[in-house]
Amino acid sequence: MKTESTNPEASREVEAGKKPVVLSGIRATGRMHLGNYLGAMRDFVTLSERDDRECFFFVADLHTLTTLPDADQIRRNVPEIVLSYLAAGIDPERSTIYTQSSVPETSELFWLFSNLMPVGELLKSPSYKEKAQMHPDNINAGLLNYPVLMAADILGPRAHFVPVGEDQYTHLENARDIARRFNNRYGDFFPLPQPLQQSGIRVPGLDGTGKMGKSDGNTLDLVDTPDEMWKKLAPAVTDPARKTRKDPGNPDICNIYTIHTYVSTEEELNWVREGCTTAGIGCLDCKKTLHKNISDLLAEYQERHRDLSARKGYAEEVLREGARRARKVIGETVREAQDRMGVAAYRGSS
Ligand code: TRP
Repeated sequence: MKTESTNPEASREVEAGKKPVVLSGIRATGRMHLGNYLGAMRDFVTLSERDDRECFFFVADLHTLTTLPDADQIRRNVPEIVLSYLAAGIDPERSTIYTQSSVPETSELFWLFSNLMPVGELLKSPSYKEKAQMHPDNINAGLLNYPVLMAADILGPRAHFVPVGEDQYTHLENARDIARRFNNRYGDFFPLPQPLQQSGIRVPGLDGTGKMGKSDGNTLDLVDTPDEMWKKLAPAVTDPARKTRKDPGNPDICNIYTIHTYVSTEEELNWVREGCTTAGIGCLDCKKTLHKNISDLLAEYQERHRDLSARKGYAEEVLREGARRARKVIGETVREAQDRMGVAAYRGSS
């Protein structure tokens, strides 16, 4: 993405002594997996620990409706995602954790913003085209309007930085366009949000395809026990050249090796490379080491997850407090935006 001449660090609010705002969201489509952890959650935790940032993390349950009509699944997934934020180490006292639907002001902002978004741009959005192609029988208007709601998510707390993967950059560009149009028409108000480069870690799926993904059934889930993990890892696809234990392989094209590079030591990686290319070790040997390292990496997370899950109602409590804080900030934005757009006169004093 192009960098903007307007430096968000120098926006009015930041000049007025407010901390730059970081915001990110996750849809409630399924369980959190190793790809989410290495690619995003760990970065969120590091950001949330910085004293010079104000962080908002939310569950995009309204966005989830565009592809998941199963209400019970959404109900189950939402607190699970919150527990994973918490188990990863995000402190709900420092960061605001909430669900999108618990802040109705975001949906109000969505409507205001939809008047600043050309339909032609929405039709061109790569994620819209992809989803429309995948589900030609369910091209709902929510899919089309997805980027407008996402702009409301981001601009509601007037975020400066959005840690997301590259697949979300077009959406972020849309949010910046909306902010720019608003500022031009109604006076400077919104900071232009910038993407925040993440670890760049892209964990491949166990089926040997591109990416570990919630809806692809190719994941190691963060709450899987070591046994469950091994049951998934043992049959996972490796370099197809290794038909038998005696065939040498090429780690550079093996998805399992790629996962190794994120969790294993230099020494272990050398051992795998040497053993794989000479058929000195089998794929199961390689996977055993991987399994141990992933289990070790997730041990602390899993322990915290167990403790937090045992505290009945805790995730809900965090969400209620988060909603209260988020509504305050986002409510202020919406009232100011309505005022500037000429639709605030008879709102009353809520
Ligand atoms: N579209 C994001 C995804 O699918 C989720 C999301 C919704 C989001 N609103 C957001 C991410 C705002 C960052 C900021 O991953």
